[in-house]
Amino acid sequence: MTTGKTGAPHDRVDGRAKVTGQARYAGEFTAPDLVHGFVVGSAIARGKIMRIDAAEALALPGVLQVYTHENTPRLAWRDRSWRDMVAPGGSPLRPLHDAEIQFSGQPVALVIAESFELAREAAGLVKVDYEAAPHETRLAEVEAEAHEPARGKKGYTPPPKPRGRADEALAAAPVRVEATYEHPPLHHNPMEPHATTVIVEADGSLTIHDKTQGVSNSRDYVCKVFGLASDQVRVVTPFVGGGFGSGLRPQYQLFLAVLAARELRRSVRVVLSRQQMFTIGYRPWTRQRVALGAERDGRLCALIHEAVGNTSRFEDYCENVVPWSGVLYECPNTRLEYGVAALDLYTPIDARAPGAVTGLWALESAIDELADALDIDPLALRLKNYAEEDQDHRRPFSSKALRDCYREGAARFGWHRRSLAARSMREGALQIGWGMATGIWEAQQAPSQAKALLTADGRLHVASASGEIGPGTYTIMSQIAAEQLGLPLAAVRFELGDTALPPAMIQGGSATASSVGSAVLAVCRALQHTLLKLAQALPDSPFGGRTLEDVEFVDRGLRLRSGVAPAVPIAAIMRHAGLGSIAEQATAIPDLARQSRYTSNAHSAVFVEVAVDEALGTVTVRRVVSAVAGGRILNPKTARSQILGGVVWGIGMALAEHSMLDHGLGRFVNHNLGEYHVPVHADVPAIDVVFVEERDDVVNPLGVKGLGEIGIVGVAAAIANAVFHATGRRIRELPITLDKLL
Ligand code: MOS
Repeated sequence: MTTGKTGAPHDRVDGRAKVTGQARYAGEFTAPDLVHGFVVGSAIARGKIMRIDAAEALALPGVLQVYTHENTPRLAWRDRSWRDMVAPGGSPLRPLHDAEIQFSGQPVALVIAESFELAREAAGLVKVDYEAAPHETRLAEVEAEAHEPARGKKGYTPPPKPRGRADEALAAAPVRVEATYEHPPLHHNPMEPHATTVIVEADGSLTIHDKTQGVSNSRDYVCKVFGLASDQVRVVTPFVGGGFGSGLRPQYQLFLAVLAARELRRSVRVVLSRQQMFTIGYRPWTRQRVALGAERDGRLCALIHEAVGNTSRFEDYCENVVPWSGVLYECPNTRLEYGVAALDLYTPIDARAPGAVTGLWALESAIDELADALDIDPLALRLKNYAEEDQDHRRPFSSKALRDCYREGAARFGWHRRSLAARSMREGALQIGWGMATGIWEAQQAPSQAKALLTADGRLHVASASGEIGPGTYTIMSQIAAEQLGLPLAAVRFELGDTALPPAMIQGGSATASSVGSAVLAVCRALQHTLLKLAQALPDSPFGGRTLEDVEFVDRGLRLRSGVAPAVPIAAIMRHAGLGSIAEQATAIPDLARQSRYTSNAHSAVFVEVAVDEALGTVTVRRVVSAVAGGRILNPKTARSQILGGVVWGIGMALAEHSMLDHGLGRFVNHNLGEYHVPVHADVPAIDVVFVEERDDVVNPLGVKGLGEIGIVGVAAAIANAVFHATGRRIRELPITLDKLL
């Protein structure tokens, strides 16, 4: 048996359960009285429901009920009650609330039947008459009406104030580039569709299995909307089949399943179809203008970055698109602006590295354009403008090993062999291009709690209401705990995803390892403390007068660091104390007084080789090197998987993904995995992931920065830059499809 240690590439502790189908997802829990719901979505993008006729659906044997705005009870009145933990400013959707239609696919009815198939069949029989109003789903048409987003969204930081005089400096700059970059709306497309199973317990309380990244968020939302006490609702979500942000907010199936379960007093499951997955949030459609001014030697003298993203008409979804541009490069004159513009679509939602993916796509493309205008190597230009401190907040970085990412990534890639000019590398009919870009994401910590139970048989159970959307949370938390107590990994069980457990932050923002990891560390320290005190009471104890600094937990026991004696078994310590178990609970709170004196970010450097068929316009990504500075790496295997996933989505964003709107219908029309193109195995080359050494004792006690998002940031720009190097064609509108290259 291997001793659990951080830094070791352990396989996922939940891997076997996942590949053998034993891991249960929200739509797989069941109950003897379970019935099924299927959602009917609006056929128009804006207007009113004039009439709903469910008679034909209700006439089918086995159909129990059809809920519409006409028979749904009045629920919470204030917007506040409908606003979940991470909601943006505005008035959240209230499903089946009234006759008003605000977006195509908006739920207008929920059919409940004895089976899923019957519910789906009956949903097709519900007749809805609408009075359509004119809708607008084109960003260019509303861009001029962009406004500052209403405040409310957690984690949103309005752009910093201008520094210097960017517009004057740009006008006076010897070398200038200026361009507009655009990417379309992009859907998350997790393998697991959104689903909720509500089980009505004998006492009338609800156990809810919801596809969510935060069980507390779903629980609190249900309690506020339905006026329930928190002990009447328990949300249990041990596994999530991919979230990427789509599970940060409660989605409408949660509301609908709870509504039906409460009305019918029966257990209810509602699963969205793949098509309906295109009626919830998405990465917003964004247009950005970047203008850079530089001296002839490449030093930046002006940086302007303006972005407008789409939102809905009822909420102001916003993200940090432009602040990165103030922090990544040294520049005396910057102006950063961000606004949102409302379309008749559902509200966007965070998607892996929200804002940074968008902002860096534009910024890192523009830097490449500047390098070309200056005839300077793109990497050399970045190094010339490397920011040694955060100019916007006038504070140092807690750590920043980006220079090492550039160096190690370039060395692995062989960047020094790149020829400077575009269209200068060729292999027969193929144009070869090498491009690179920088990635950045914030390192954050949020308060979280954990509890632990150590039993005399040497087993440790640790638990926290965290989520696990796939990054390896079960595994790294088990590793942290095993290491702290000197136990084999197999002796530790980590439990999560249950509101009955101590509360933890929602799983998002790449902050789980930092936040929940710190709570696990804290609760294990509490156990260590108790064990040391008990060990000091042993006859002839070698630990008298010693502190935790003097001892270490190894081989299921405790020993002096300085000594050579074998460890005193934990079991012996507990036996002597007459204890069958020791329980502890701890909260890890970020040390804001210290953390706020620094800026903390994860960084990456991405190097890409593409081959473009000049006759066909097809782009193939042939090699990727991603060098990441993410603080301490708890598990190189799960860490690498995070970066691989990010790079793959980056390839998708650059070359394939595009949620297409039919503006006549105001609807996403390629709403399936046949027509929404994602990279398949053949589109993804070998990806070389490098973690550079980075020590940081400010970010959190573990020194980790989080890896869920950094892997995708910069990838789209690196690919677009490689395509430019291959072809001499600068594509500023994603995705880079062959029609744009021919
Ligand atoms: Mo992430 S977009 O915070 O799930």
